[in-house]
Amino acid sequence: MTLIFAHRGSAGTHPENTMSAFKEAARVGADGIETDVQLSKDGEVVIIHDEKLDRTTNASGYVKDRTLMELKTLNASPNFKGKLGKENIPTLEELFIWLNDNQLYCNIELKNTLFLYPGLEEKVIQLTRAYEMDERIILSSFNHYSLVKCHQLAPELETAPLYRDGLYMPWIYAKAIGGSAIHPNFRAAPDFVIQASLSMGIAVRPYTINEEAEMKRLFKLGCSAIITDFPEAAVRAREGLKSR
Ligand code: G3P
Ligand code: CA
Repeated sequence: MTLIFAHRGSAGTHPENTMSAFKEAARVGADGIETDVQLSKDGEVVIIHDEKLDRTTNASGYVKDRTLMELKTLNASPNFKGKLGKENIPTLEELFIWLNDNQLYCNIELKNTLFLYPGLEEKVIQLTRAYEMDERIILSSFNHYSLVKCHQLAPELETAPLYRDGLYMPWIYAKAIGGSAIHPNFRAAPDFVIQASLSMGIAVRPYTINEEAEMKRLFKLGCSAIITDFPEAAVRAREGLKSR
């Protein structure tokens, strides 16, 4: 069965990468969540997508220039869909504490292409081990050097290269860098790439799958998972196919 991972939580319906978005994913029956991590000025692993605070908070400037205490004073839901809200920027540790109480998978994307965030890999791995999340964590990144480092530091954890364009034979490439999955943009995931990857034992989890027709294509192919902003709609579409 194709699993459903809620992108940045349920980002289509709730402020992205907030605890309310993650809780919504659990409420609607998603199998997992996808989230993004960076480091604060004082080296805490925080959950936020952009390197800059401007789009998703009531502040501006870089995440890396604020301490955790400063980041915690910000609103991560200042004006979501025109509604004023109040949400914290969560830490990865807070997310893990919540994950302790459910069985969701968690795809952690290391956002370390613009800034490398030295130590980010070690900190994410240390927390994963401390909370005994090994079986449920998938590490991904557009920075494939970082994924190789993760694999070297923690071969027990699944790693998956993210990519947007037409990578040639990604099932071979993934294995070459120690990965056991690929996370392509859906435009870079034609049927034959998915089929060949699955047949070579490489899991495929395309992003960001928000159209029902595209969800159904991937469900029918037996894709490993989809990453979607609308997990509730995806669960419904999957149920619809099953009952036919
Ligand atoms: O992990 C899939 C997807 O989240 C990658 O792109 O920009 O949404 O983080 P982005
Ligand atoms: Ca992401």
